Amino acid sequence: MRMYDIIENKRDGKELTDEEIQFFINGYTKGDIPDYQVSALLMAIYFQDMTEKERAILTTVMVQSGDQIDLSEISGIKVDKHSTGGVGDTTTLILAPLVASLGVPVAKMSGRGLGHTGGTIDKLESVPGFHVEITNDEFISLVNQNKVAVIGQSGNLTPADKKLYSLRDVTATVNSIPLIASSIMSKKIAAGADAIVLDVKTGAGAFMKDLNDAKELAKAMVSIGNHVGRKTMAVISDMSQPLGNAIGNALEVKEAIETLQGKGPEDLTELCLTLGSQMVVLGNKANSLDEAKARLEENLHNGKAFEQFKTFLRSQGGDISVAEDPTLLPKASKMVELPAKKGGTVASIIADQIGSAAMMLGAGRATKESEIDLAVGIVLHKKVGDKVEIGEPLLTIHANQSDIQEVQNKLYESIEIVESSVKAPLLVHEIITE
Ligand code: URA
Ligand code: CA
Repeated sequence: MRMYDIIENKRDGKELTDEEIQFFINGYTKGDIPDYQVSALLMAIYFQDMTEKERAILTTVMVQSGDQIDLSEISGIKVDKHSTGGVGDTTTLILAPLVASLGVPVAKMSGRGLGHTGGTIDKLESVPGFHVEITNDEFISLVNQNKVAVIGQSGNLTPADKKLYSLRDVTATVNSIPLIASSIMSKKIAAGADAIVLDVKTGAGAFMKDLNDAKELAKAMVSIGNHVGRKTMAVISDMSQPLGNAIGNALEVKEAIETLQGKGPEDLTELCLTLGSQMVVLGNKANSLDEAKARLEENLHNGKAFEQFKTFLRSQGGDISVAEDPTLLPKASKMVELPAKKGGTVASIIADQIGSAAMMLGAGRATKESEIDLAVGIVLHKKVGDKVEIGEPLLTIHANQSDIQEVQNKLYESIEIVESSVKAPLLVHEIITE
């Protein structure tokens, strides 16, 4: 087999065979096929697309390029959730203990990642003592015992994806549905879950800003998951404004605690219930979405979800007095309110701009080496559709730096207030199951 012929076939719009896909992925991972040939093939895929069958094979071969986590020692159907990423997306912190409280085993492998705030692990590390450096055996026994545990990302998961992603990054081929879908799904599948719930975000703060692109990506990922034998479904949710009120690591932990006690922001709570009920049904712990949702809601109010969260923190070394008294979480040295310059209705809170402001405060990582300030961030007091009076605080900035003028300017630019009335954006656009 020659790489030249594979490039030519794809260039001419032919469907690649399983063997051709295996040949190029394995050859590239081993270093036998040069970057320039793979670049040409990626560009051909960008223009010619891939069939559902090609996408499923590509994903499977990428999964097989590295370690695969074996969760078979955990009893029950292991359900994982993946978000394509947004601003102030606190859902994992809430969903993991919430669905575990109904007996769905959550074996979560999580990362730190780059972005406006840290990843789930960074956020959890604002709880003193909490750690994810546990062995695979400890991880599995914790999930069997408590139904929920989080472990740091393994070193050698989907090396083929790592190499391809870096190459796509410099060859203008990131933005291709088959390549994005197989990249995301390969990592999820290698992490071992039996079933996967995807939260595909759309809007200014999302990777897929356009709703139709988000739908297409969601369908592609659901198809791949189901083709390779993992029950998969997707929720397309709004990320035009940040989710919930808090953006920042410790601030989001506090928001997660409040939500687990049934006192969280409406949008965040609603999205967690939507995603959670899908997870519970996939995990065979309820017969219908309505039943699952009602039972999850009950556990937010009867203390069970919060108890589960504390058990989870304690089992991984976390100091649970922080959960009982969130004022013990890392705190910024100053809190400054941003007053509205005029009265009216909030028409937009541009999610990615708010994310950049959080980044300027030090809440996120620009490079792998950057240090995160767990205490800083932004807490919104108004969301799109809310009325506001002149001088009323739109949000509070939590900062550790002396000069926040630039951050304030950025925030003012990201929030639009109009005189007419405005409806809150639809939170869940669509649910895709097949
Ligand atoms: N995120 C991924 O993991 N892969 C992509 O290709 C794009 C976004
Ligand atoms: Ca939030």
